[in-house]
Amino acid sequence: MNPASDGDGPDDTGRRKFLTATTAVVGAVGVGFAAVPFIKSWSPSERAKQAGAPIKVDISALQEAQQLTVAWRGKPHYIVRRSKAMLATLPEMDSTVLDPKSSNEGQQPKYAQNEYRSIKPEVLVLEAVCTHLGCAPEFVPEIKPQPFYEDWKGGYFCPCHKSKYDLAGRVFKSQPAPANLPVPPYHFIDDNTLEIGVDPASDKSTGAA
Ligand code: FES
Repeated sequence: MNPASDGDGPDDTGRRKFLTATTAVVGAVGVGFAAVPFIKSWSPSERAKQAGAPIKVDISALQEAQQLTVAWRGKPHYIVRRSKAMLATLPEMDSTVLDPKSSNEGQQPKYAQNEYRSIKPEVLVLEAVCTHLGCAPEFVPEIKPQPFYEDWKGGYFCPCHKSKYDLAGRVFKSQPAPANLPVPPYHFIDDNTLEIGVDPASDKSTGAA
């Protein structure tokens, strides 16, 4: 028997490594080919997006304290997965923010008019446009003192005129920005997919018109 082919020699170790590497590459290419048409089928044309066509967003890879930015109706939108620690800051912020109960009805749909300003507490969806002059506020998720605010509990900071928002997009009192960051209409298609631009089936009261 050829000692190089009896299954235990050094040549076989090398060959196994090669086969493993080859399989991994083929697997990766296979996933790539499968993923592209799937993602493409979700993407409306640029013209349709400007006109307000709903967009579907895969949030399966979004980790706690991470944020995704997507465009809808020509504006950036943030999607954040909030941790339990982040959610726990929100009741503490009620005395610091201007509209703790989200009573300004134009700033969110009815189904987001709650402590978290969201359908699922852990997933926040916001229009990323400061209500002062329209800049995109920076996401500063760390619950620790910041140079711009020593009592910082996480949220958004708009550096141009220094408006601050909490981790539900609620504006602090006495800021240049007069209102909370808007929540767009959205709903969940499944645990990992949400659609911006369409209300939940059970609530059509704040449509995407
Ligand atoms: S645009 Fe955000 S504070 Fe002025």
